[in-house]
Amino acid sequence: MSAINFKGGTGKTTVAIAIAEGLCHLLKKRVLIIDCDFQCSASITLLGRKALNHLISIDATLDCQLQKLMDGNGRAELSATAVRARNCVREASELMFLLPGNPDMPRRERQILASYLPGRDIHSAYQAASIMIGEIYRSLLDDFDFVLIDCPPGLTLFSEAAIRASDGLIIPTLPNEISFAAIDHLRREIGRTRSDRSLDDLLVGTVISKIRQRNGGEHYRYQTRSIENLLDRVAPGFQILKPYLPYCRELEATTWRDDDGGSISFEHRYGQSSAMIMQLTQAFAMRCDALMARKAKPAQPARLKCPTC
Ligand SMILES: Nc1ncnc2c1ncn2[C@@H]1O[C@H](COP(=O)(O)OP(=O)(O)O)[C@@H](O)[C@H]1O
Ligand SMILES: [Mg+2]
Repeated sequence: MSAINFKGGTGKTTVAIAIAEGLCHLLKKRVLIIDCDFQCSASITLLGRKALNHLISIDATLDCQLQKLMDGNGRAELSATAVRARNCVREASELMFLLPGNPDMPRRERQILASYLPGRDIHSAYQAASIMIGEIYRSLLDDFDFVLIDCPPGLTLFSEAAIRASDGLIIPTLPNEISFAAIDHLRREIGRTRSDRSLDDLLVGTVISKIRQRNGGEHYRYQTRSIENLLDRVAPGFQILKPYLPYCRELEATTWRDDDGGSISFEHRYGQSSAMIMQLTQAFAMRCDALMARKAKPAQPARLKCPTC
C-alpha cells in the first residue's frame, strides 16, 4: 500500500506511521515502511538522525540497496536492509521495520536510470527501471504482512515504482481544493502507468487531515459538510476513510520524536487521539481486506444471452 499525494505536507508520513503503529498494536501485524522520500521524514522519525546518518554513511539505505540489486552486485534481498523502527511505540517494537531513505536519493535515481539507457530512449528506460523496482518492492511481501510506502510529493522514479507495485493507495489530503486537485493529477499518472487498474480500483481511501475545530464545533461541521460536497462534486467515489483527523498536538508530534527507543506506549504517544487512530486503522484494514478479496476473485465470465429469451 502506498501513502501518496502529489502535494506536499498533506500528512502522508504522519498517516503512514500512525496506521503502521495501529496495525502492529491492534492486529499484531508485521509491518514495513519504505521511505522513498529524499526528505527522509519517516526515517528521521523512526530511527533518529544519528542512527539514520550512520546507515547513510555505510550505504545501508533503500536507494543504495536498490542500485546494488539492479546492477546485479547485491547478493542479499532488499529486506536485508530493513531495520527495526527503534522510535516506534512500545507495542510495535518487535513488529515494525523501516527501509530508510537517503537525501542522496535523487542522484541515485539518476544513476539507476542511466544504467537503463543504453539501447533505450529516456521514456522506455524510465519505464523499465520503475517496473524492475516495483517488482523488487513486491518481493518484500514474503517477509512482512503489510508494506506501506511513504511517497514523496511529486513523481520520482521510486514513487512511480510504488504506484506500479501497489495493491492499494491511501491518499492523505488537506481539507482544501488545491489538495484535492492533486488527486486528479494522480488519477492521470495511474492511467499512464497501470494498464490493469484505475485509481478507483486501487483507492483504499482518502484520509482528510488537519481539520481545525473552532467555534465550539460549528466551524468543524461547516468544514466537513463543505468537504463532502466538494469531494462529491470534483471526484465522486473518493472513499473517505473516517474518522477525519483534526489538527491536533499528538499528530503534529508524530513526526517530531525524541530518541526514545520504543519506550512509549501507543496510548501515551497518541493521547486523546488514540481511539481515533485505532478506528482509522480498523477502517483501513477492513478496506484492505475487501480490496484484496476483490483482487483475488476471478473475473466473472460474461453471461451469455439465451437466444430463446
Ligand atoms: N492532523 C495533524 N495535526 C497537526 N499537525 C499535523 C497533522 N498531520 C500532519 N501534521 C504535521 O504537518 C506536517 C506535514 O505532515 P507530513 O505527514 O510530514 O506531510 P507529508 O508527508 O504529506 O509531506 C508535519 O510537521 C506533521 O507533524
Ligand atoms: Mg512525507
